[in-house]
Amino acid sequence: MSVARYFDEMSYGPAPEADGEARAWLKKHETGFSHFIAGAFVKPAEGQYFETAEPATGAKLARVAQGSAADIDAAVSAARAAQVKWAKLSGHARARHLYALARAVQRHGRLLSVVEAIDNGKPIRETRDIDIPLVARHFYHHAGWAQLQASEFADQVPVGVVGQIIPWNFPLLMLAWKVAPALALGNTVVLKPAEFTSLTALLFAEIAADAGLPAGVLNIVTGDGATGAALVAHDGIDKIAFTGSSEVGKLIREKTAGSGKSLTLELGGKSPFIVFDDADIDGAIEGVVDAIWFNQGQVCCAGSRLLVQEGIAETFLSRLKHRMQNLRVGHPLDKAIDMGAVVAPVQLERIKSLVAAGVAEGADLFQPDIPLPSGGCFYPPTLLSNVQSAASVMREEIFGPVLVSMTFRTPDEAVMLANNTRYGLSASIWSETIGLALDIAPKLQAGVIWINATNLFDAAVGFGGYRESGYGREGGREGAYEYMKPKAWAKRKPRIASTLPAAQPAEDGFGLPHLDRTAKLFVGGKQARPDGNYSRAILDPKGRKIGEVGEGNRKDIRNAVAAARAAEGWSKATTHNRAQILYYLAENLSARAEEFAARIAAMTGFSKAKAAAEVEVSIERLFAYGAWADKYEGAVHQPPLRGVALAMNEPIGVVGVICPDEAPLLGFISLVAPLIAMGNRVVVVPSEQHPLSATDFYQILETSDVPAGVINIVTGAARDLNKTLAEHDDVDALWVFGAAELSATAERLSVGNLKRLLTDHGLVTDWFDAAAAEGPILLRHAVQVKNIWIPYGE
Ligand code: NAI
Repeated sequence: MSVARYFDEMSYGPAPEADGEARAWLKKHETGFSHFIAGAFVKPAEGQYFETAEPATGAKLARVAQGSAADIDAAVSAARAAQVKWAKLSGHARARHLYALARAVQRHGRLLSVVEAIDNGKPIRETRDIDIPLVARHFYHHAGWAQLQASEFADQVPVGVVGQIIPWNFPLLMLAWKVAPALALGNTVVLKPAEFTSLTALLFAEIAADAGLPAGVLNIVTGDGATGAALVAHDGIDKIAFTGSSEVGKLIREKTAGSGKSLTLELGGKSPFIVFDDADIDGAIEGVVDAIWFNQGQVCCAGSRLLVQEGIAETFLSRLKHRMQNLRVGHPLDKAIDMGAVVAPVQLERIKSLVAAGVAEGADLFQPDIPLPSGGCFYPPTLLSNVQSAASVMREEIFGPVLVSMTFRTPDEAVMLANNTRYGLSASIWSETIGLALDIAPKLQAGVIWINATNLFDAAVGFGGYRESGYGREGGREGAYEYMKPKAWAKRKPRIASTLPAAQPAEDGFGLPHLDRTAKLFVGGKQARPDGNYSRAILDPKGRKIGEVGEGNRKDIRNAVAAARAAEGWSKATTHNRAQILYYLAENLSARAEEFAARIAAMTGFSKAKAAAEVEVSIERLFAYGAWADKYEGAVHQPPLRGVALAMNEPIGVVGVICPDEAPLLGFISLVAPLIAMGNRVVVVPSEQHPLSATDFYQILETSDVPAGVINIVTGAARDLNKTLAEHDDVDALWVFGAAELSATAERLSVGNLKRLLTDHGLVTDWFDAAAAEGPILLRHAVQVKNIWIPYGE
């Protein structure tokens, strides 16, 4: 071939990475890999192993222990035994351990990269330049959080023993995302790698033991979904952190319901890649390559839905096809390839069948005419164009190198199509007009937005989803909080079930009768009669009737949710405006303080002084959230690139609230105020036993300029209304404070749309204690963080 032709074709030969050391390590473990429990490699209790294969060749790769419930139990015991000591170490000592891990990962970087490429099938170029450097970065960054824990998180304590379940697409990186924050902040871990890709986790365990990590701090139990299920079910676990399919994520939500375990879920996505007609087309095409062909498209945040503005669609797709023609699919250890192998035959079959379904539904299929290695799990880069928004390939996560595309006309249409998914993990926006890109970013329902970029990650920048892409964040300050709990909540005691007094007969009736007054519901800014036209008597502690309230039902909740949904303007209102309204509420409540105090005393039997104090603290709390409304802000991250990532605190949307009985007014205010301060709209079920403070509050709402639909109040049976709220797919989050049973129900029934939950598990909050009931402790749950990456430069 002539030199000129080389330049023309830009083709080059294979450049294989040496794998001698990795093969020698595999050979050493030929008889089988054991679990890593209490600092040592331990054979599986039931003696079971399974075989794994090399995705690129199908050849047998390793024998890996199949974890049983007994293995999980041993690992949890080891983690429990180590946790107290580990948490008691100084932050500095833990920081040194994490630092040692980061250094060790770098020292063994080449071996880890090669083993990862062999085990997963992904290109060595990616493991060497992306996965493993990010693993090291994660341990460095979190060494820093350990060092700063005492000063930065003084009001928090570690969660305890954490069970972590990770997928196969970024085996060691997902381990780092989970293990680094957990250990940094004083937790110990039982981690279950994915069954296809356990090897780098086990190699990491060897490295960690060698680096002097104390026994029991990190335990690794290998196995399949059954092993994961045993970990989820174990009573000795305080938190589950899961990354994987939405299906299993939802199952775990159900299984942990009522257990008191905290839960973070990082699930799938169908992320939009939006190209406006003023985009740098060459840049955007390289962006597509990174978005969907990086890691063979097996990326939860892959830009798998291409939305191109109509005017440039034809040019864009034709240039994209040309680019696809130049992609190289090959052996993972070839340094000159763009795409390696898909992880396993089952995934390959899944991709094939989804693409076939897409074609059957009318999509145009394009696959470049490029060679694929024979044998092994290879699939070509694929484009499905002219796809309808209802088509299965537009809705379902394919988790392979398959891009689906459609066009849009206007920015509004782009936003609508982009948000037309149950997921909300990430989005990529391509435009040379910064004003346009920054206008679109807040409108997208996704946890990570990249402007003129895609698939950027950093330990300092939180990562995680909106909607059914899961909840919780990994990385950054917000990710650190997921591995701690407030000190003030750690002391909460179980609520003593309140017994309703027996109703007393009315007095002889010859006095002047009370003017009949039955409080209605408060929906869409108006008092509304309950749909069922039933009301319930409200009794004082002696059983005397002191009022009646409407008996809300399913239909009333539906109306309230619709009103809250329609009040979208509140989420866009300025923080100044929201602050003003919170101050007005405080002012108007203050004007009627005595009346409210008398009502609390009558309902609860509290002393006058205690009732007056409840009103005073309620006023102060409204002021506090007026203050926070324009001060609970995000952050500007400076990840290692030329650019910034803006961490924005965004409202969650429509939030259901179940209020406790113990402080009828203060409980109500303490839960509603942080939510509305952050721009959420609420559907509130006030204290079932003492709802009259909340119904009296209607008049305060009416005189304080609260826009219609921002606060909706439905009185009635907490048990039924909580169930309806949990099942309602247009409710984005649910806060449940009351009987333990209510928390369990909310957790179990909220899986439909994976609501964000804040539940008290039947433990009583001291509402008078600002440390336990005011400020960031609740504001953190009233927002979801969106990270908007803005690289600089030409
Ligand atoms: P998966 O969700 O079944 O596996 C992820 C992890 O969960 C693995 O460690 C697995 O052993 C474990 N697991 C499975 N069943 C479990 C259970 N009942 N309880 C506890 N742990 C359990 O994902 P899978 O089957 O490997 O892939 C299927 C599809 O899921 C993919 O095609 C893709 O669409 C999606 N997926 C999404 C990922 C993401 O990062 N969002 C990662 C992996 C898969």
